[in-house]
Order: sequence, then structure tokens, then C-alpha cells
Amino acid sequence: MASTAVWDEGKAREIIVRLAKLDGAMLPILHALQDEFGFVHAGATALIADALNVSRAEAHGVISFYHDFRPKPAGRRVVKLCRAEACQANGCEELVAELRRHRGLDADNQDDERLTIETVYCLGNCALGPSALVDGELVGRLDAERLADLCDGGPVQVAQTAAGDTR
Ligand code: FES
Repeated sequence: MASTAVWDEGKAREIIVRLAKLDGAMLPILHALQDEFGFVHAGATALIADALNVSRAEAHGVISFYHDFRPKPAGRRVVKLCRAEACQANGCEELVAELRRHRGLDADNQDDERLTIETVYCLGNCALGPSALVDGELVGRLDAERLADLCDGGPVQVAQTAAGDTR
């Protein structure tokens, strides 16, 4: 799971300067900032632009293009719910509807201190869908009850069967 450190401009500047020498430094810098702070603060745009000698618009364009670079810290529980074709065929949209109906959680717009839900498109776990990454752990064969429990902060128990079946 990402760090939840508070934004520290001095530390961010150190990271940026250290990585600025790399070829194609923009993405390594952004990943390093995200890993360090759990998000990419708006103030990083100017620091990166200056260090890489690009415009602020260009730096902002890259940051906003990749949805993994968060503009603010994620919730304490992060659920990345797959809503791609195979998981749809296995009922993920019904789970989304159930969450909304019975828990008042909006999978399309849930992002607060407690819980962030993000939509992703295929986690490579299609045969065991509906699938989600919960705090970085792959969970398959979700049902409404399990998903609601995970959204409530319930334990992410990942058991492997002998056949590599992830549940
Ligand atoms: S479609 Fe959901 S894991 Fe592939």
C-alpha cells in the first residue's frame, strides 16, 4: 500500500533532483513521489517542470493523464474494482448496484478519508471475477457481501489453493 506521509516540498525536491538525470525521468519521478507520499501534490508540477526543463502544462498533462497519480491521499481502504468485460459477465455491475442500494456507496465517486473505490479494467483474474485489488491484494469471486465487508475495512484474506485459485 502507498505511504501516507504528508507532503514535504523539501523531500519532494530531493526525489526530483535525484531522478531528474534519468532518461525519461518524468514517470520515475511521479512514481517515486506517489510511493513516498501516497499522492502527487499539485506543487510537484512546478518542481518537475523546472527540474526537467519542460512547461508546467506539459508536466500537468502527464500527471493528469495517468489516473494512478492521485492528486490527494487515498482513503484508508483502497478498492480497485474491475469492471471490464469478463467481470461484467460475472456480475460486477450488480455488485456496484448493491453497494449503492444497501450501503450508500458510489463506486463511481467514492473517495474520502475512509474509502476510495476506483474502477479498473482487467486485473488478469478474469476467470475468477468479479475481481478487485484491495489495498494491493488481488481478490476474486467477489459477491455483494464480501465486497461490502471489504469496503467497510474488513480483512483481505487471500488464500491460494493448490491450483493457484485466488479467493
Ligand atoms: S475482466 Fe476483470 S480481471 Fe479481467
